[in-house]
Amino acid sequence: MVPAGRRLPGFDALVDKQAYFVVHAPRQTGKTTTMKALARRLTEEGRYAALHFSCETARAFPEDVEQAVKGVWLAVESAARLELAPELRPPAPIEVPAAGYLQTQLTRWAEVCPGRWRSCSTRSTRSSAMASSPS
Ligand SMILES: Nc1ncnc2c1ncn2[C@@H]1O[C@H](COP(=O)(O)OP(=O)(O)O)[C@@H](O)[C@H]1O
Ligand SMILES: [Mg+2]
Repeated sequence: MVPAGRRLPGFDALVDKQAYFVVHAPRQTGKTTTMKALARRLTEEGRYAALHFSCETARAFPEDVEQAVKGVWLAVESAARLELAPELRPPAPIEVPAAGYLQTQLTRWAEVCPGRWRSCSTRSTRSSAMASSPS
């Protein structure tokens, strides 16, 4: 297996710049595997709480934004339970309008994430994101 770090050589610089980026490639070429490995490595290195999750649950609710965003947040919570130590997981969500729901929960998470994890918000295609706290 080609190590994840070698497949996206510009990744660390983009993350450190707090940049958004898109990984675009045909299916079955290793996008998901690479993003999961990179998220794990970032978290292990201790500067970020990085999490891979899918937004695909939202597709089940094309007409219902509230259900869609809450489904995405459930995906975040369940990925965090599997991948992150308890102190790095997001706090329980608060009720806010659907339009700002994900931004609110992600911001609250960043605010309580332990201090040595730096501020970062990154997405690739539809299925990867990271959130962590101000330094
Ligand atoms: N770097 C790699 N080296 C070898 N096999 C890989 C590598 N990355 C992914 N794979 C394998 O290729 C298949 C497709 O990977 P996946 O990450 O699901 O692709 P995508 O998200 O682009 O559709 C999986 O069976 C996975 O285990
Ligand atoms: Mg994939």
